[in-house]
Amino acid sequence: MRRALYPGSFDPITYGHLDILRRAARLFDQLIVAVVENPRKEPLFSAVERRDLVKKALAEEKIRGVNVITYSGLLVDCARELGATAVVRGLRATSDFDYEFQFALTNRDLDSDIESVFLMTAGQYSFLSSSLVKEIAQYGGEVGKFVPDCVARALVAKLKRNRRRKEG
Ligand code: PNS
Repeated sequence: MRRALYPGSFDPITYGHLDILRRAARLFDQLIVAVVENPRKEPLFSAVERRDLVKKALAEEKIRGVNVITYSGLLVDCARELGATAVVRGLRATSDFDYEFQFALTNRDLDSDIESVFLMTAGQYSFLSSSLVKEIAQYGGEVGKFVPDCVARALVAKLKRNRRRKEG
């Protein structure tokens, strides 16, 4: 059984992530999405909210057989605990390379049994990032082209709640 982990912040999940996810699911017997509580970033959505959005997005996109978990800790430990032998990451442009190279080599140093697998993004998503989507939504822009409806709705609701909280 070839089991792979697709980790990320997914704050929130975009069509770019879903494209990688769909293609990775074809390569492995089992794919697990790990929504990682990344201490380097301050997320808009909590880890549980991000996980639930991934689940809803998978349902909306009719992608079946993919498990979704949250994880805080080292990725290699997560992979080992789940019996995953590969970590899947998407590459958009050369700008992703340096970080991903460092990430993959560090993970290999930590556990040489876990292989990093990179998939090139589809051309139409090469510019897309969760940060960009959040920025567009923040200024009231239309994000329907970049994220599933359930995510677009959650973004509007979350930003409205945050704005109210700041004002009140
Ligand atoms: O979507 P992102 O933010 O690019 O994902 C990065 C992520 C969360 C996959 C990465 O930061 C991670 O795996 N963090 C877990 C902690 C870890 O294992 N760090 C050491 C590897 S260099």
